[in-house]
Amino acid sequence: MPATVIVGAQWGDEGKGKIVDLLAQHSDLVCRYQGGPNAGHTIVTDGETYKLRHMPSGILAGKQCVLGAGCVVDPEVFVEELDELESRGISTEPVRLSGNAHLIMPWHVAIDGATERRLGKLQIGTTRRGIGPCYADKAARLGIRVQDLLDPKILRQKIEVALAEKNVWLERVYGTEPLELEEVVERSEGYARRLRPYVADTSLIVDRALRKGSTILLEGAQGTLLDLDHGTYPFVTSSNPVASAAATGIGIGPNRIDAVIGVAKAYLTRVGEGPFPTEIAGPDGERVREAGHEFGTVTGRLRRCGWLDLVALRFAVRVNGITALALTKLDILSAFAELPVCTHYRLPDGTVTEDFPAHQSDFHHALPVYETLPGWEAPLDAVSDLAELPPPARGYVEFVERSLGVEVCLVGTGAERERVLAQREPAALARP
Ligand code: IMP
Repeated sequence: MPATVIVGAQWGDEGKGKIVDLLAQHSDLVCRYQGGPNAGHTIVTDGETYKLRHMPSGILAGKQCVLGAGCVVDPEVFVEELDELESRGISTEPVRLSGNAHLIMPWHVAIDGATERRLGKLQIGTTRRGIGPCYADKAARLGIRVQDLLDPKILRQKIEVALAEKNVWLERVYGTEPLELEEVVERSEGYARRLRPYVADTSLIVDRALRKGSTILLEGAQGTLLDLDHGTYPFVTSSNPVASAAATGIGIGPNRIDAVIGVAKAYLTRVGEGPFPTEIAGPDGERVREAGHEFGTVTGRLRRCGWLDLVALRFAVRVNGITALALTKLDILSAFAELPVCTHYRLPDGTVTEDFPAHQSDFHHALPVYETLPGWEAPLDAVSDLAELPPPARGYVEFVERSLGVEVCLVGTGAERERVLAQREPAALARP
C-alpha cells in the first residue's frame, strides 16, 4: 500500500509541483491535503507551461486527483482552472473534491486584504486570497463547505447567516463596502452547478485505492516553515503543510503513509514578511532571483533569496519525518564561484547550535554560521546522470546528505520534467 507524502521542506516554492509531476507518471492517484489558491505550481511539460493553483499536478499526467477535506477552495478560481485545463485539452474528469473542504467566500478575500492593510508595517504579507479568514471561520464553525453547494436551500441559509455578521465587520471594523446577499447567493449557485459533479467522499476513494494496492502521492502546499503549528509564527499560513497533516487532511490513518519526500531548493527563498537568517543582501541576492526567476506564481511578488539553511532543513527533516530529499534548482548555483551553506546558528547568548530555535526571539536574532563550499561555475544542462555532475556539484549534494543524514534521491537541474536526476528509477521512488 504505497503512499508517499511530498512536502515542502522550506518556506514554500521549493518546486514540489515538478517533483509530483515526475512521480505522478508512476502513481495512480495524486491528492492535495491542505492549502488553497495561495499555492501555485508552475509545471513545464512538452514545452507548455501550466500554472496550477488548486489542482494537484497529477492532472497533467491524466491521473485521478483528489482535493481533501483539509483544503480550502475558492470556487471562482477552481472553476477558472477547470475551464483553462479543459480548453487546453486536459480532461478534468479525474478530479474529485471533498465535500468537507471549506469554501473561500468573497468576504474572506475582502477581510484578508483589509486585515493586512490595517496591520500596516506589522502585516504578514499574505497572498490575500482569503486563506486565513477561511480557516479561521472553519475553526469557529462558521464556515461554508463544499457539500453545502449540493443543497440550494442550505447554501442560501448559510450565506445569509455568515454574511449578516461579515458585513458588520467589513463596514464597521474595516470601513469597506458590504457585500450584497443576492449577488453572493447567485454567484455561488452558479459555481454549485459547475462543481457538483466533482464532489465526492474523497477519504473513501483514497482508502479504496490503498486497499487495491494503488500508488498514491499526497502533495502538500506551501512548506514546513509556513506551518501554522511548527512554522515561523505568525509569519505562516493558516493550515498545516507538514507531512502528518496529510493523514488528517485526506482522512486516512497515519499508518498508511510509507514515505515522506521533502522538497528543498539548493538555496532558499521566502515570500512575505518574517525573519530569514540566510537572506542574501545586495547584488548576489539579485543574481539568485534573476537566475532562479524568483517571482511568486500567485502574486508575482519578488521572492527574498538566501543561501541554503541546513539548520532549517534539519528541522524540516525532524518535524516531517523526511525519508528522502529532492534538491531542486541546483543549476541556479552555477553562477557562483563559492557557495556559503549555513550549518549552524549563533544565538543571542553566544551559543552555537545546529538545531532550529524553539523560541521566536532566538530565531529572530539568530546569525548564520556558514561553511563555504566550492562552486562549479558550469552549466548543468547537458548532465543526464548524477554521476556526471561536476565534482563540486556532487560535493554540494553529498554535503547536504552528510549533514542531515538523509539521502538526496532527486536533483533538479532545470525547469523541464526531464531535468531531474534520480538516484533510483522514479518508479521505485513512487513505490517505496
Ligand atoms: P497566506 O497563506 O495567504 O495566508 O499567507 C501567509 C504566508 O504564507 C505569507 O508569508 C505568504 O507569502 C506565504 N505563502 C502562502 N502560500 C505560499 C506559497 O505557495 N509559497 C510561498 N509562500 C506562501
